Amino acid sequence: MKTILHVSCSPRGQSAESYRLSQMILGHLLQRDPQALVIERAIGRDPIQPIDEAYATSQQDSGDTSREGTMMKSEELVRELEGADCVVIGTPMHNMTVPASLKSWIDHVVRVRRTFEVTPAGKVGLLPDRPVFVAIASGGRFSGDRARQPDFLTPYLKAVMGMIGLLDVTFFSIQSTGSGQDAVAKARIRTGLELAGYFSSQPTDEG
Ligand SMILES: Cc1cc2nc3c(=O)[nH]c(=O)nc-3n(C[C@H](O)[C@H](O)[C@H](O)COP(=O)(O)O)c2cc1C
Repeated sequence: MKTILHVSCSPRGQSAESYRLSQMILGHLLQRDPQALVIERAIGRDPIQPIDEAYATSQQDSGDTSREGTMMKSEELVRELEGADCVVIGTPMHNMTVPASLKSWIDHVVRVRRTFEVTPAGKVGLLPDRPVFVAIASGGRFSGDRARQPDFLTPYLKAVMGMIGLLDVTFFSIQSTGSGQDAVAKARIRTGLELAGYFSSQPTDEG
């Protein structure tokens, strides 16, 4: 049975626009594979504690001496990620980038000698690749001709997931949520069509 890891990062929980969009992505994935198991990792309302001193120190040393505190949490989150065939991240844009909740998850799963290795040629990811879908909600626009702010979210997530070996990252977004209900309704329709087009163009397991 396939496993989908759903990481939801908004403090608004299930009322969040990013949660809603990530549910639409999950809907498409489950339509293709109704038996898939969805593991929920809701970190927006129940944040992961930031990494502790022992964890940070162990990342500088040659060995991971800490087996307690946030190192334990890191191991739990890495195993959860390793066990997933596919990952769906629902996240708002906060201050032009990922919210603190998602950054904390990243600090736990992007770990030297565990999910990436440092080599003379640079950092090398240690996880086998798998699809990562990112559902973003933003108050304003961050892409296209009408973008009025820089986007540090999508290039950062692509780079940091790539660092651990996850190169197949696809982004969908609902932008301009701050422009009123009409704008949100239109954005939902547009992104819904985009999602339908994307998934209908993807080959199924049967070919
Ligand atoms: C702390 C904070 C920072 C934000 N920063 C941005 C930003 O930089 N750019 C933007 O377009 N919207 C920003 N927003 C607006 C949210 O991205 C927007 O309300 C989004 O729809 C929230 O998604 P959610 O419902 O999934 O939480 C910010 C919101 C908060 C609470």
